[in-house]
Order: sequence, then C-alpha cells, then structure tokens
Amino acid sequence: MLVKMKKTAIIVGASADIGIKIVESLKKRDWNVYGTCNKNKEKLERQLDKSNIFKINLNSENSRRELEEMVIGIWRREKRVDAGVYVAGLWNPFFKFIDEDEDKIKEMWNVNYHGAYWFFRALVPCMIQIKNGSFVSISSTAWTKGSPHAETYGATKAALANLMISLSEELANYGIRANIVSPGPTNTKAFRQYYPNDMDVSEIIKNIPINKLAEPENIANCVAYLIEDKYVTRQNIILDGASMF
Ligand SMILES: NC(=O)c1ccc[n+]([C@@H]2O[C@H](COP(=O)([O-])OP(=O)(O)OC[C@H]3O[C@@H](n4cnc5c(N)ncnc54)[C@H](OP(=O)(O)O)[C@@H]3O)[C@@H](O)[C@H]2O)c1
Repeated sequence: MLVKMKKTAIIVGASADIGIKIVESLKKRDWNVYGTCNKNKEKLERQLDKSNIFKINLNSENSRRELEEMVIGIWRREKRVDAGVYVAGLWNPFFKFIDEDEDKIKEMWNVNYHGAYWFFRALVPCMIQIKNGSFVSISSTAWTKGSPHAETYGATKAALANLMISLSEELANYGIRANIVSPGPTNTKAFRQYYPNDMDVSEIIKNIPINKLAEPENIANCVAYLIEDKYVTRQNIILDGASMF
C-alpha cells in the first residue's frame, strides 16, 4: 500500500500570536509543521513536538548557517518541504527619523529581511527537486503606504515584499509560488504593547471601514489559502479592513 506523505511547512517566527495561529491552522489542515522561535517558546511548545521547534536568533551572525542547517535537517527527515512562511518581524514605532538608533536599524534589517532572504534561499534547492513549493511572507501595510515614525520598519517590509515578487517570477517555472500577506493593525500582544489604551485603539478603529482590528486567525486563514492553492502567485493580499491609503 502506498503511504501518502504529509505535506511539510516551516514557519519562521512561529512563537507569537500570528505565527501560532498559522501553526494551528496548518495543523488543522493536516500539515506537518515545523516552527522557529527566539525568546518565547512556551506557546509553541503547546502546539508542536520539541523536535519540530528550532530556536534561532535572526539577529546573530550564526543565523544564516542555523537557517540552512534547519532546512537541510527537515528535508532529510521528511524528504519534502512544501511551504515556507516568514512571519518573524520587529516593530519599533514612534521615534523621530533623526533619532533612529543604528543598532536597532541593523537588527530590524536582520530580522525583517535578511532572515527571509537566507531562509528562502535555503529552501529553493529542495523545492526544485520536488518541483513544488510555496513561499508566503508577512509584510505590512507599512510597505505600500509608507511608515512615518517607523521608516526602517516600512523599508524592511517593502524589501521583503519585493523579494517575494521577484522570486515569484524567477521560480514559477519550477512550480514554486511566492505571495505576500500585508496586514494592517492586528489584535496581537505586540500591537497591544504599543497601544495599551483602549481609547487609542478606538481612534485607530475609526479609520478602519470594517470597524475592527484584524485578528491573527484572519491572517492565518489567508496564509493557508495562499499555501494550498496551486496557481495563485505574485499576490499581495492586504488585510486592512478597507482602510484608505
Ligand atoms: N500585529 C500587527 O498589528 C501587525 C501588523 C502588520 C504586520 N505585522 C507583522 O506580523 C508578524 C507577526 O507579528 P505579531 O504581532 O504576531 O507578533 P510579534 O511579536 O511582532 O512577532 C514577532 C515574531 O518574530 C520573532 N522575532 C523577533 N525578533 C527575533 C529575532 N531576533 N530572532 C528570531 N525571531 C525573532 C518573535 O520570536 P520570539 O517571540 O520567540 O522572540 C516572534 O515569533 C510580524 O512580522 C509583524 O511585523 C503585525
């Protein structure tokens, strides 16, 4: 009897609210899921076996090697990797442009862009072998509408989106697709950290025609669709509740 191998996905930055929901949603769809974290392991350990979790600090000089070793290790174990999702991100709003800290700028590029670059580059040779694969990156509405008081954040998210667009064309012939999800304000712990006050959140919601923040599961549903549909590629799905920009 032929045993059908489960499809395998790797989620980089799986440990916070959006990443966890993506893990949950893919598991429900019977995917075999691997995830990375940096400082926070607890929520991810409730979702995945220890052997499916990798601790990688994307702001370290070892991160490229660690990402490559993770991808090769999973490939050898599973004999396939069907999807790579890049969720890791660092946000640091509310500073004056001229005050932006140099170390923070470097960290943001490392976490928001360079990690994605090396992750997807490690995945390409594996996916070419099975002539199938899907990349999804979580960018932000900041990349299309600009990001005053968070210039580097917006620039890194624009670079990430641009990488996906370029890869979608370069790799289409190998059956590899690449898409972007760009959320607006989303109800996560990270967002609430910057907007702890309900009055401030209400002000934000006033500018969202659908009258509410996105929830992490909205992002996760969209990621699952982009991964599973075999034709959709080079798309940027904006999840901003019809906000004007
Ligand atoms: N929430 C929003 O309103 C919103 C809007 C637009 C876009 N987004 C994007 O959506 C994604 C997820 O956001 P979120 O709100 O769920 O939570 P978050 O706290 O912004 O998520 C950050 C994720 O990145 C990881 N990370 C941060 N620094 C890292 C480092 N040095 N090395 C490795 N991993 C690192 C975190 O790992 P640990 O927790 O393990 O350290 C966590 O898994 C981010 O890319 C964010 O920019 C969010």
